[in-house]
Parts: sequence; structure tokens; C-alpha cells
Amino acid sequence: MNSDKNIKHKQLKILMPASEVAPLVKVGGLADVVGSLPKALNKLGCDARVIIPKYGCIDEKKYKLKKIFSNIKICVNKKNVKINLWQCNLPTQHAVSPIYLIECNKYFGSKKVYFKNNAERFLFFSSAVLQILPIIKFQPDIIHCHDFHTALIPGLLKTQKKLNTFYKNIKSVFTIHNLNYQGKSEIKILSTGNLTEHSLKSLSQDAKDGDINFMVQGIINADAVNTVSPTYAKEITTPIYSAGLDKVIKQNKNKIIGILNGIDIDFFNSTTDKFIKQKYSIETLNKKVLNKLALQKQLGLPQDKNIALVGFISRLAWQKGVELITDKLINSKCQFVFLGTQIGGKQYENQLKKLAKKYPDKVSAQIKFNTKLAQQIYAGSDIFLMPSRFEPCGLGQMIAMRYGTVPIVRKTGGLADTIINYQLSIINYQFKSTGFIFKKFDEISLHKALQKALKIYYQHPKIWRQLQINCMKKDFSWNKSAKKYLDFLYC
Ligand code: GLC
Repeated sequence: MNSDKNIKHKQLKILMPASEVAPLVKVGGLADVVGSLPKALNKLGCDARVIIPKYGCIDEKKYKLKKIFSNIKICVNKKNVKINLWQCNLPTQHAVSPIYLIECNKYFGSKKVYFKNNAERFLFFSSAVLQILPIIKFQPDIIHCHDFHTALIPGLLKTQKKLNTFYKNIKSVFTIHNLNYQGKSEIKILSTGNLTEHSLKSLSQDAKDGDINFMVQGIINADAVNTVSPTYAKEITTPIYSAGLDKVIKQNKNKIIGILNGIDIDFFNSTTDKFIKQKYSIETLNKKVLNKLALQKQLGLPQDKNIALVGFISRLAWQKGVELITDKLINSKCQFVFLGTQIGGKQYENQLKKLAKKYPDKVSAQIKFNTKLAQQIYAGSDIFLMPSRFEPCGLGQMIAMRYGTVPIVRKTGGLADTIINYQLSIINYQFKSTGFIFKKFDEISLHKALQKALKIYYQHPKIWRQLQINCMKKDFSWNKSAKKYLDFLYC
């Protein structure tokens, strides 16, 4: 992608098609990234815009959506499907970040973001994104796609380049947020994107095994590819982490780099957060405990400022290591609060509910999606748990650190890249550590890490305070990472 080096960053026009964007619609961390990276890019002088489907769950009034085009005809398998285009602007201090929303009730009218025919729905969306660009007269330099939902856009773009000069100079970038969701689907759905298995070499090769893998198509066809942390970029070249794609990852290894996500430090800010009981900073860290007391009260846990409160906020998925949270762990000297929901299953929700029922004085299981409560947990907890089996980046640990809540994480992906492990041998206060890391994915290793953290928490309060300060001093803003996108992917 070096041919256009003369394009100055300042003038770069970027379109980000994605399946989620915070705060409009969020299932996981993908939404946070798509919500905050464009703001950071625009702060650096780019014109970055987001485009998502207009799902039935998006609140039109709250986000001040405006219909900007009606009855645009999108060609699907030689027939026309009519869509409307809506727009709103992401609230930002620095520049306007427009979000476009494609309305097509047939595919996106439901309140649910993901369900059975995901591949077909998002292929329609991907094809529509390209077809509307000339209509709305937005000709980006780069289309930056995210995860399997929009992974067919780089291939579609290749086919469009042959037909229409409008697309000729547009480059494609593909970010892998999670290799485990690949969008495998039947070959026949390609017609939804006006494609056949013969439209592209990558498709005919892929079709040989009887299906099409969206993730694979994104990796092969995009001009540049990245994942969301340097460690995950390395991990996915190995069979354990590649979810069956190590061959294609290895073949494309040279074009896949790891760039750590940032977080929106204006939103996640303990000194201004309007959702928390008591605002605090490094200088007033002793006030943080008031958030713990308020949270304990709200959740019906015994109010005790001295007991360690362990928070866990997550999509309840196989990836997240929920099965390591067992009776043995709960029997530690602390309280727990769990917040999250499970898509397509109930076993993790049930597991956490069961623990809450069995240990009502120690465990609160909040099986829901609630941004306000999430902030209150980040601020009110002492320790934040992320025992992930794999974690492409992970945002929770960074948010927790910003609130002076010390993470316990498994050494994988972005967790390994963002936490500096505390060693018990450290006896002076000149250390840089920000949390506790365990390696082996098992109950005993997590249990040991928690005991180590609790020992410091109860017996060495000064060291604990230093850990909190180290966490809060870390810079997880998008500044550095957005520049890396400009320097290494968009160039
Ligand atoms: C996915 C990954 C998570 C990452 C997020 C944003 O949800 O599982 O690790 O932080 O995407 O990139």
C-alpha cells in the first residue's frame, strides 16, 4: 500500500463499515473501537466516517438520526431492493464524526444485532455500502473494514474497480478483532452481493471446500490487515489461536500487523464520570472507596469498606474464561460482582447465577447489558478479573486501570501487552507493575493469582496504592494507536 505516500494524513478520507458502533449499538468491544478510533483520526486531521446497519434497537430520538436519502435502489441478484440512508454525528470535542446508517427492514429491522443468517445480512450491507458511495458523493481514500461482517468488502471492491472508475483509487484495510467469528456460509449466499464463486480467485479457491469463509476473504483481499494487539498478531500464526486459519494467516503473515486498541479517555474518566457516586483522581484516590460502598449497597452485598471487591464485566463467551470462576475461587476472602450476558446459550449465565444464589453475601450476578452499572463497577471494584482463554485486545483491563482498579489477567493477546506483572519479590516502591498475570488457563493458576493480589491488598496497602497509581498513570488513549494506523496501515 505504499503507492499513495503522497496522500497527506490530513486529507485522508476514511470510511469504516462495521456491524456495531458505540454508543448507538453495542454488543462487544468492537463497538467501542469503531466509536472511538474515527474520533482520534479526525483529531489528527482525517475525515473518518462510520457506516452501520440501522437496527430496530437503535434509538432514533436519543441519537438525533436524520434521514438523508430515501428509496436508494440497491441491486441484489439482478433485482432492486430499496434502502434509506440516515445520518447522525458522534458527539466529539474535536471534530464532527458522521455515522451513516443503512435502513433496510428486511435484513436489519429486528432489534437483534446478530442472528442466524448473519453472513447473508452483512453481505447485503457490504454490497450496499459500496453501491451508495457514488450516490452520497463520498469517495474515500480508504475503506477500513472490521471483522467478518464487512470482510467481503475488499473483494467486492476489487470487482467494482473493474467496472467503475469511481472505485479505482480506493484502498481497503481489514482489522481482525476476533478470529473466532469467521462468517462461514453457503456458497449460494454470494448472490446477495451479486457475486459467484467465479467472481474472484479468492472465492473460487475458498469454495473448493464447500463453503465461503468471510474472514479468509478479508485477509486475502484487503490491501492491509491488522489485529488489535501485537501479541495476538503473533498468536494467530499458531494452531492454538488461529481457529483453523493458521495456513491463511501464515501465507499472509507479512501483511498482518498488530496495533493495540486505545480507549476513549474522555468517556472513561474517574474525575468527570457522571455515572459514579464519587469522582476521584490519583490525588484523591482515598475517595474511591465511596464508590465501593455505594456499589455494595446497590447490589445488596454487605457494605464493608475493607473487603476486596472483585469486578468482572464481559460478554459471557467461551473466550472469556468464565469456567475458571468456580467455588474454590469464590471462597477467597473477597466479594465478586459479575456483569454480562451470553449470546446463543445460557450455561455461563446460569453458572454465575448459581454462584450468586449459593453465596448471596459474596457474589452478585448481574445478567444484563448496562453501561451505567459497568462504570460503577469499574470505579467501585478493587480488582478487575479477565481470565480469558484468548483476548485479541481486551478493553476492560484498560478501563479498569484508568479507574485505579488493579487487573488480574491471563497472559494472552492484548492482556499480555497492557499489564506489567507484579512480582512478590519487589520490596521497594520503585516498580512499574500494574497488575497480576497468570499463564496457564486453569482454575489453580487463576486462584493463585487472586491470592497473590489479595495478600498485597490486605497486608501491604502502600504497595497496593502504588499499583493503583501506576495503573492510573498509564496512557491508553487512542493518540499513539491512531498514529500507527496512519503510519503503518493507511500509507
Ligand atoms: C473483540 C475482542 C476483544 C477486543 C475487541 C475490540 O471483542 O474479543 O479482545 O478488545 O474486539 O477490538
